[in-house]
Amino acid sequence: MRTPICRRLGCAVPVFAFSHCRDVVVEVTKAGGFGVLGAATFSPEQLETELRWIDARVGGRPYGVDVIIPSTYDVEAERSAGDLERLIPPAHRAFMDKLLADEGVPPLPPGERERILREIVDGRGSMTPEGARRLVATALRHPQVKMVVSALGAPPPDVVADLRARGVVVGAMCGKAAHARRQRDAGVELIVAQGTEAGGHTGEIATMVLVPQVVAACGPEVPVLAAGGITRGSQIAAALALGAQGVWCGTLWLGTRESELDEFEKAAVFAARAEDAVRRRARTGKTVRMIRSKLSEAWEAPGAPPYLPTPLQGVLYNEAHARVVRARRADLYSFPVGQSVCDVNEESTVREVMVRLQTEYLDAMERLYGLEEEE
Ligand SMILES: Cc1cc2nc3c(=O)[nH]c(=O)nc-3n(C[C@H](O)[C@H](O)[C@H](O)COP(=O)(O)O)c2cc1C
Repeated sequence: MRTPICRRLGCAVPVFAFSHCRDVVVEVTKAGGFGVLGAATFSPEQLETELRWIDARVGGRPYGVDVIIPSTYDVEAERSAGDLERLIPPAHRAFMDKLLADEGVPPLPPGERERILREIVDGRGSMTPEGARRLVATALRHPQVKMVVSALGAPPPDVVADLRARGVVVGAMCGKAAHARRQRDAGVELIVAQGTEAGGHTGEIATMVLVPQVVAACGPEVPVLAAGGITRGSQIAAALALGAQGVWCGTLWLGTRESELDEFEKAAVFAARAEDAVRRRARTGKTVRMIRSKLSEAWEAPGAPPYLPTPLQGVLYNEAHARVVRARRADLYSFPVGQSVCDVNEESTVREVMVRLQTEYLDAMERLYGLEEEE
């Protein structure tokens, strides 16, 4: 399974794990893969704490950080970062409140709502170009961070130049071959081709179609990782056959013992089928593939208010989500997952997942070689 990107980054196998959870990053990295911490919602201070924690546990191994560096941003909303709540139209808030009240979901205890809002405001700065720059600067103080991936297109030229000058691989997520070409031209050194099957913000093109297109668009100099729908070793073999140098998985780690989800949330993930992972805008205002629930569907129903722009929809949603989790209401619970959530059915450790993937990969390769011999 070893490919050139393993040598370049210093990992044993090309299994890249995207997670917001530092424990997952550490365990994947220790098991020979490459953990990437999703840092978009952290303040620089929080990120510093997380990276120190990871550094102390990965025994000198390399790992990565993923940030959202938007090329454009709603400047008006940014100026009002301290007063996000004021920007939410009363009709939108009333719609969400009525929905939860009709379902009998209690409000949050005193102080909790303010805490959630504060968290969003603190972290949200990290999704602005300036906020993302501060996160990148924080990551650069940690020499074990060998890759920084930008989630919304190529990072600005000065950030690309800075990362490259320090020997940190610059990666970017893409959902279309045209994006990959632009990113390559902007100096991005590794592309994550993310198909529509993926959990989180996702486009419309399937991994099977996207990966070879992006590989062709990038040329031999820029390695491509396949993302979206990968939970099995056979899918890793398929990704490598399509020209990718590795795989980038997100949904797979949500069911692990190390994941940030609690027991109630994991049960919802284990119960979800492929067809329950739908693309909806209720969570952030942009299309996110997530578990279908009464909450996600209410926003799609006739008479629902139009979605708010990012980050306002998220402010409304996060509070509702916290209420739903506290009330343990699986029927209202929506969390980002990909279609491959159907393969995440029980808790296992990250280490067990890593061993399983490699065993299944070997089985798949043997099957393929066997087919050749039969001819
Ligand atoms: C819960 C969750 C949150 C995610 N958040 C981000 C994010 O903040 N930044 C990002 O680049 N990708 C994010 N993604 C997408 C992943 O990086 C990855 O591309 C995707 O999970 C791969 O598809 P899979 O879910 O089928 O494994 C997220 C995915 C999940 C499941």
